[in-house]
Amino acid sequence: MASPRGEFSSRFGFLMAASGSAVGLGNIWGFPTNAASNGGAAFLFVYLILAFSLAYPALMAELIIGRHARANAVTALRGISRGPRTRMLATVVGMGGIVTVSLILSFYAIVSGWMLAYFLSSFSELMGWTSPAAWLTSGSAERDAIFTLIFVALTIYVVTAGVRRGIERWATRLMPSLLLILLILIVYVLTLDGATDGLRAYLVPDFSRITDPRLLLSAMGQAFFSLSLGVGTMLIYGSYLSRRENLPTVGGLVALLDVGIAVMAGLLILPAMYVALAGGIAIYDDAGGLIAGPGLIIAVLPALFDSMGMAGSLVALAFFLLMSIASLTSSISMLEVPVSYAVENHSMHRRKAGLLIGAVIASLSLIIVVNFGWLFDLVVMLTTEFSQPLLGFFFAVFVAWIWNRNSVLREIREGSPEVEHSLFWRIWPFYIRYICPAAILLVFVQTILL
Ligand code: PHE
Repeated sequence: MASPRGEFSSRFGFLMAASGSAVGLGNIWGFPTNAASNGGAAFLFVYLILAFSLAYPALMAELIIGRHARANAVTALRGISRGPRTRMLATVVGMGGIVTVSLILSFYAIVSGWMLAYFLSSFSELMGWTSPAAWLTSGSAERDAIFTLIFVALTIYVVTAGVRRGIERWATRLMPSLLLILLILIVYVLTLDGATDGLRAYLVPDFSRITDPRLLLSAMGQAFFSLSLGVGTMLIYGSYLSRRENLPTVGGLVALLDVGIAVMAGLLILPAMYVALAGGIAIYDDAGGLIAGPGLIIAVLPALFDSMGMAGSLVALAFFLLMSIASLTSSISMLEVPVSYAVENHSMHRRKAGLLIGAVIASLSLIIVVNFGWLFDLVVMLTTEFSQPLLGFFFAVFVAWIWNRNSVLREIREGSPEVEHSLFWRIWPFYIRYICPAAILLVFVQTILL
């Protein structure tokens, strides 16, 4: 009965794929500005604590369920259910993850399309083709539509090639390149005038901000989005993980890579912003905070690159390549969620499932492009602030309250036989049972009230 399922060929392959999913636009444009606007290193400190005390346990919950069930989220959650009611809840949560992640991909693809367009624009600049370069950064709906479609096509291409020959192969090529480009850019930007002011804004702690509840909330939201939690991405990647792997260790490495790259992105983005400031470019918004999100990537930084002449085009080329890579390794993990479900539960061929679901998501993206003004922010808000934490809450509930504790332990013991006596097993069950659900609920309530 077992249909042949994919499996990552090595620990390295899994780490690149999972950290590729985690490291995305969220790390590069979300984390650095969030940190600088919220007390610098004080935010970093809070973020590190939250990432390891809340996001890491939630990540472990998904990896454990996934590897145990060796199936997509719907089947996996149904498998650990105990009766008709929880089975029903399992279907709702699993399907909720599929819908949510598809919607996330539909807006993510638009922004990722911008990254591709800016990358090609820098290339055109370097070649001296000025009018295509200008069109590529024009922000027209046609450009958005074309590049969104190109980006979704790339995502479909990788996912339909399969777990090893698509996802793993591309992640192991792209992630090391990402790291290299990031390092080169950091070193270069730190040599420019104004960079040290950026470092100061980023790294000098303002501890008076630490008790601000909004800071905590925003750090927690950031950590959940950044680790791709709540929508079944980590669950499905966990389901392709070998039984010989030590789960607490590989989960810890994924969290470390994600946090590490976010922290490194701060060493690039903030110095770059202050270099821009030294060059007379506005880096604060009307409310007095640092410009964050899309405005940072498509306004502040391009203005900086423009002011740097020829070198600027090269730096822009490298930067937008970095962004495109970060986007693609995340988007493939998103598309894998509905595709694996269609393949496993509806016996669809992977290629057909990828094309069909990809086409649906591309259509959603086009609807958003055409109604950008009111729809984009709404979809972002509903999926990342509402749906993702709520689903994350249920994943924690499933693993800690519904699934049998001995089975959980049995699953983790595979690949780490000594785990019962480890620090992990002393702390994690308590966290995932009480702390995680309570904290997520708290964020959730606050988000709705604020
Ligand atoms: N973690 C990705 C980022 O930081 C986003 C993501 C969310 C990916 C949900 C997969 C699932 O950009």
